[in-house]
Amino acid sequence: MSTTQAPGSTASQAVLSASHLVKRFGAVTAIDDVTLDIFQNEVLGIVGDNGAGKSTFLSLLSGYHHPDAGEFYYRGQPVRITSPARSRRQLGIEMVYQDLAMSPDLTVWQNLFLGEERRRWRLLLDRSGMRAQARETLQRMHTTIGPDDLVSDLSGGQRQLVAVARGLLFDRDIILLDEPTASISVAKSDEVLDTIRDLHAHGKTIILISHRIEDVLAVCTRIAVFVTGRLAHVVDNDGLTVEDLIHLMFGNGVPPDREAT
Ligand SMILES: Nc1ncnc2c1ncn2[C@@H]1O[C@H](COP(=O)(O)OP(=O)(O)OP(=O)(O)O)[C@@H](O)[C@H]1O
Ligand SMILES: [Mg+2]
Repeated sequence: MSTTQAPGSTASQAVLSASHLVKRFGAVTAIDDVTLDIFQNEVLGIVGDNGAGKSTFLSLLSGYHHPDAGEFYYRGQPVRITSPARSRRQLGIEMVYQDLAMSPDLTVWQNLFLGEERRRWRLLLDRSGMRAQARETLQRMHTTIGPDDLVSDLSGGQRQLVAVARGLLFDRDIILLDEPTASISVAKSDEVLDTIRDLHAHGKTIILISHRIEDVLAVCTRIAVFVTGRLAHVVDNDGLTVEDLIHLMFGNGVPPDREAT
């Protein structure tokens, strides 16, 4: 598909490009020759059936898994994404996983800084500084979550917001969200969607995987459709309907005038 070719001519505008990525798990090809540019300050939706490769694609961007073939380009320069730490610290990518990895017995602020604790005099934990910064970030997101709340007391939606707060706290550029509204009520998911809109308004680049087509249509500027490990379509969210998207996911193609350019 001409719309997805990277790096080449569009690479300079792309914040991140995936080029001919392949990821296999044994006999399964989870990601099959995927080439896709991700542009600064877009909200890119990723949709597709169960097992289509959506989570695997993001796990390659986050450094959690490594591709068997293919390359990444960061602002046009070739990069290797060798670990989550490298993805976070060098490329500014924060991943919010489908099965959230949090420590329920710790407080919100402790979870926010987990693995990236601030220290005073290189030794002592700067507890008050971390708490204060956590509070400020949570307030910025207009949530009622407090820094001292225990994660075990939070709802699924609130945990998602804490994970997003981590991206804000460390000022990551690119935030990857894997099914953030899957296990929460429609009413509660509005808070997550508002946060995505807010991040977008603050110049962040967001990639959102969701089975909730309405959510994807509500917040995404562009939508990528994965079918059995392949990138089948990329379309601008410009008057798309739920039916259009379902047709792209399960039907035989897209009306030619809908393809993104
Ligand atoms: N760690 C793994 N080990 C083995 N196979 C895996 C692993 N992760 C994913 N797969 C396989 O790779 C394929 C793509 O899985 P993936 O989780 O990326 O799909 P998905 O689109 O995120 O699905 P879902 O919508 O159910 O979350 C599936 O066939 C899955 O079983
Ligand atoms: Mg998944």
